[in-house]
Amino acid sequence: MATAVNPEFDALLQKGDLIEDPSEMTADYLKELKHTLIVSGDTELISAPAYYLAARRAPSINAFMTGIAIIQDELAHAHIAYHILEELGEDQEKLIFSREPKSFRYPYAFDVPLESWTELVIANAFYDQAGFCLLGDIHEHCSYGPWKRGLNKVMAEENFHLRNGRTWMKRISQAGGAAKDELQAAVNWMFPLTVEWFGLPDNLKMHSTQLDYRLKGKTNDELRQWWLSLVVPYCESVGVKVPARQEGEGWVLEYPFPCEFDAEAKRWDFSEQISWDDVLKRWRSRGPRNEEMVALFQEQFHRFRAQHPLDA
Ligand SMILES: [Fe+2]
Ligand SMILES: [Fe+2]
Repeated sequence: MATAVNPEFDALLQKGDLIEDPSEMTADYLKELKHTLIVSGDTELISAPAYYLAARRAPSINAFMTGIAIIQDELAHAHIAYHILEELGEDQEKLIFSREPKSFRYPYAFDVPLESWTELVIANAFYDQAGFCLLGDIHEHCSYGPWKRGLNKVMAEENFHLRNGRTWMKRISQAGGAAKDELQAAVNWMFPLTVEWFGLPDNLKMHSTQLDYRLKGKTNDELRQWWLSLVVPYCESVGVKVPARQEGEGWVLEYPFPCEFDAEAKRWDFSEQISWDDVLKRWRSRGPRNEEMVALFQEQFHRFRAQHPLDA
């Protein structure tokens, strides 16, 4: 259990009760809750420009509108997290509009450009499925009442996003020919990127304060296994190959994990295993699209503010 400074708080937490107000929290719990909310808010927010840049290549107006509906959902999800952060004393406007691109805390996968409708729908089937697993776990176990309730809406919508991804993957696979080849080629780089999303394996990850505070319930490996158990059978059922298979109760990867990724070429090097330090280094230096995506929502805001100063 993390540092106990407030026996009443520990008793609340151990009983499985929900925390409803900052006055009930310890400083350490507040810090961990804020960190978890920032990762969630940033991930939801950055998915909007990432998806928008690909949705522009939709094959029809109907498909484009579905893409826009998903983007609208993601912005609302981000707002839920940032709004709670504001109630916890953070400045929502500063968090969104005044941070350096590299300081946003979202998974590396979004920094690799989604450049076609095919890549967007795989992101729906893989990335939104990862979001569904991570947020579903938080929704079930979260000790902070306002966030737990806010996630009801988020879960229903993430389910719609991943269904959209699955339906389109199946449609493209059934079309066969070049469309199916393009689908398989995109899965080849996007599948390992999502496997990596869940972070350090349990044998390397030090003690998790998030688990102590019931800000999550499953470990990184448990979440990764859950994702694999949903994604691998679906891909196989629609004729898409993925480098993983079931062994007993669990799922095993058929490539060295983790391994080197060339973001510009969108290609993995399966010839050898690298260290997690190497992966963390790649994550920290961010990928090709980080600055462009952050500029997409920050630049317009600052132009508008320059023309309409608040104290004018
Ligand atoms: Fe979302
Ligand atoms: Fe989503």
